[in-house]
Amino acid sequence: MKSHRLHTLPQGIFKKLAEHKEQMKRQGRSIIDLSIGSPDLPPHPEILDALSGWAADPSAYGYTLKALPSFNEAVADFYDKRYKVAIDPNHEVLQLSGTQDGLSQLALSCINPGDLALIPDPAYPIYEIGVLLAGGRVIRLPLKQENRYLVDFSSLPGEVLERAKLLYLNYPGNPIPEMAPLSFFEEVVFYAKKYDIKVIHDFAYSELVYDGRRAHSFLSVPGAKEVGVEFNSLSKTFSMAGCRIGYMAGNQEMVESLASLMSHTHYGIFLPVQKAAEKALRQGEILFRDHVNTYQRRRDFLVQRLREAGWEVSQPPATMFIWARIPYAVSSMEFCEELMEETGVVLVPGETFGKQGEGYVRISLVQPETLLDEAVRRIKGFLEVKAGA
Ligand SMILES: Cc1ncc(COP(=O)(O)O)c(C=O)c1O
Repeated sequence: MKSHRLHTLPQGIFKKLAEHKEQMKRQGRSIIDLSIGSPDLPPHPEILDALSGWAADPSAYGYTLKALPSFNEAVADFYDKRYKVAIDPNHEVLQLSGTQDGLSQLALSCINPGDLALIPDPAYPIYEIGVLLAGGRVIRLPLKQENRYLVDFSSLPGEVLERAKLLYLNYPGNPIPEMAPLSFFEEVVFYAKKYDIKVIHDFAYSELVYDGRRAHSFLSVPGAKEVGVEFNSLSKTFSMAGCRIGYMAGNQEMVESLASLMSHTHYGIFLPVQKAAEKALRQGEILFRDHVNTYQRRRDFLVQRLREAGWEVSQPPATMFIWARIPYAVSSMEFCEELMEETGVVLVPGETFGKQGEGYVRISLVQPETLLDEAVRRIKGFLEVKAGA
C-alpha cells in the first residue's frame, strides 16, 4: 500500500545502484565504494570520550524532548568564533536529528500546497523531496560553469521570482563542490527581500574546505537573518554522521515554525549525543583540523592519479567529492552501472541530482589512499577498453 504522495517522489536512482552493489557483494565480488558521503574517519577521541562518558550515566536515558539550552549556546559560540555571526541561542537555533531530517520537514512547516520553491540543478535530493512532500511545486535553476555554478538571478523571469516562496542553496555544494563569494550571498539577500522569498542555505560542508580557504556563512551577510536560515551539521565536520545531530540557525519565524511542527513529530535527541556535540562545537577546529588535512591529501592524490589515467577532472576547493565529466558520450546511469559491473568501483550518476547532472559522476574521497589508488587502476583499465572499443 502506497500513498499518492509517495508516487509523486522521484524514483531513487541511488536505490537501484545500491541494490546492484548489494547483489555484487553477495556474489563475493570486490567492491570499492566511492559513492558514499559518510565520513570513514572516526570522531576525535575527545568526542568519543564525551559520548561514552555520558552513555554510562543511567540518568541519561529519558526522552530529552528538545535541545539542552547549553547545546544552543554552543552553536551560538561556534558561529561567533568561526564566522563572526551573532545568533540568539534562545530564539534563532533549532537542534535537528541530522539536517536531513530538518530539510525534509522544513517546507511542510512553512509553505502551503501549490507554493513554489526554487531549487538548483544539480542539487542534493532532499530539498526537492521536502517540497514535494509538502505539496509544493519546484522550479529547478541550472547551475552553470560560466556562472561559477552560482544561481543566475538575472536570467529568471520576474513572474517566477514573484511567485517563489522558498529558495534552496548549498555552498560548498554537493554534488558540485563550489564555494560562494560573499557578494553572491549579498545578491541573494537583495532578491529575497525584493520578492519576499525565504532562503534555506545548506552549509553541511562548512569546514571541509582546503588550501587554507574558509567558506562564508550565509548568515554573515547583513539582512540574511531577516530572509532565511542556515542548516549545519556535525556529520561531516566532526565525523558524527551516525550520531544524527545537526541544527538550523537564523530567521526566528522559520525556527519557530519548524520547532512547532517537530514538537509533534520528535521526542528529542539522546542526551549523550547532545553532550558530545556540544563538546565538539565548543572545542571547534582542533577537533576537525586533522580530518580536513586527510581529505585534502586524498583529494590531491585522487585528482593527480585520475589525471595520470587520462581523466581530466577539476580539483574541488571543498567537500568530500570530485564532480567529474564522463570522458565519453554515455548516460551517467549507464556509465556507473557498467563501471560497477566491470570493475566493482561504485560512483554516483550525476542525474541523481537533477537533469543538469547528466554526463557527470560524483566521486567520493571517503576511502583511504590505498583503495583510491586501486579504484583508479580499475577505472583506467575500464576507460582504456572503452577508448579502444
Ligand atoms: C549537502 C548535504 N546536506 C545535508 C546532508 C545531510 O546530512 P546530515 O543529515 O547527516 O546532517 C548531506 C549528507 O550527505 C549533504 O550532503
